[in-house]
Amino acid sequence: MTQSEYKPFVVLGVTGGIAAYKAVEICRQLVDAGCHVAPVLTKDATRFIAPLTFTALASEPAQTEIYDGLSAIPHTRLGQAADLIVIAPATAHLLARYAHGLADDLLTTTLLATRAPVLVAPAMHTEMWEHPSVGENLSILTSRGVHVVGPGVGHLAGGDEGAGRLEDSDVIVGRALEILGASRPTGDFAGTHVVVSAGGTREAIDPVRYLTNRSSGKQGHALAEAAANRGARVTLVTSSQVPAHTHGPGRIDVIRVESAAEMGEAMLREAKEAEVVVMAAAVADFRPSVILDSKFKREQGALEIVLEPTDDILAGLVQARSTDQVIVGFAAETENALENGAAKLKRKGCDVLVVNDVSAEGVGFDHDTNAVSILEADGMSTSVALSSKRTVAEAVLDRVVRHLNSNQGAGHE
Ligand SMILES: Cc1cc2nc3c(=O)[nH]c(=O)nc-3n(C[C@H](O)[C@H](O)[C@H](O)COP(=O)(O)O)c2cc1C
Repeated sequence: MTQSEYKPFVVLGVTGGIAAYKAVEICRQLVDAGCHVAPVLTKDATRFIAPLTFTALASEPAQTEIYDGLSAIPHTRLGQAADLIVIAPATAHLLARYAHGLADDLLTTTLLATRAPVLVAPAMHTEMWEHPSVGENLSILTSRGVHVVGPGVGHLAGGDEGAGRLEDSDVIVGRALEILGASRPTGDFAGTHVVVSAGGTREAIDPVRYLTNRSSGKQGHALAEAAANRGARVTLVTSSQVPAHTHGPGRIDVIRVESAAEMGEAMLREAKEAEVVVMAAAVADFRPSVILDSKFKREQGALEIVLEPTDDILAGLVQARSTDQVIVGFAAETENALENGAAKLKRKGCDVLVVNDVSAEGVGFDHDTNAVSILEADGMSTSVALSSKRTVAEAVLDRVVRHLNSNQGAGHE
């Protein structure tokens, strides 16, 4: 994916009303308009229209179940990934469940697990539409900022006529695109997918013990937050427990991992479609060559652990990189930081290497502050004196933007 190919992620919720078949046209129009569309049908919607129809037209298979095993956390993945959720048609039942915070299926859990804007297009018979409970539920939703389109007036199922008709698909799609346009991230990382790793990995010894290091994950988290604040879509692969927050225009999708192997697998997978990859995690260099099946007891005597080297994730990322991807590595050094950093930059083949001398006071592991030298493959270097990890993150991103812009310029020649 390049910056110009950025596709807004739209979850299309379809509920069990007679107008469910019209959602097919909405799905098609959203895809044609350049959106990545993920359809979610309620159980009752599938009585009116087959998920297969949406699967054939949408950007990913239609989903109907919370417990289908497609993703480890299906009830939150879609809501967290969404740039917009459109529910069309929205039944009286869905409006009631959403207004009162029920989370009893994939669509309602997705609605509760999102910070993205939501657009509902109600559709029902006039009597239902005019029932006070429907009006009250809708008022609750609009007071929370939910957007509403329609319903229109016209022919209804069963030959009736009146208010409650699903708004025309082009009006619904037009409104969806309008909301996406207004909520489109701004900033120098808008339209950019940034993958960041954070934290120190854990390498199991037995079911209760592991080897780890002093990394808190704070620098990686600061980088993720800064990139999201500058408009990026961020995937944060983290082994640390620090929660990721963003108040900026971008968003952060969090993937939790434990071991170096899990982190390597997640990073290589996520980096495939990213313009920027930042390897800020302190990955274990060694792991026990054997993981004991049961807890090793004190009475068993000395515990001898043979350590074997783990895979070099940064090297793997550089090897698998796409031509215009910017890769940032980190080096924690305890002596000759600059010389060792320069050698590592050359050896690893990344574009930017952030070097910190973790032996210095207030620097690196488990501190809220850091002091770094940012070395670049073309010989540039910048020093950031002791400051907050967020300030360091901004300085690193400033250097990354330079590489992104020169890659883009090269692509246009
Ligand atoms: C033929 C038929 C048409 C229906 N059309 C609508 C409708 O347009 N709007 C609505 O709110 N409910 C309609 N219902 C009722 C819903 O299907 C019912 O409330 C269901 O529980 C909705 O579930 P859901 O919101 O989880 O999809 C209809 C029911 C039937 C049998």
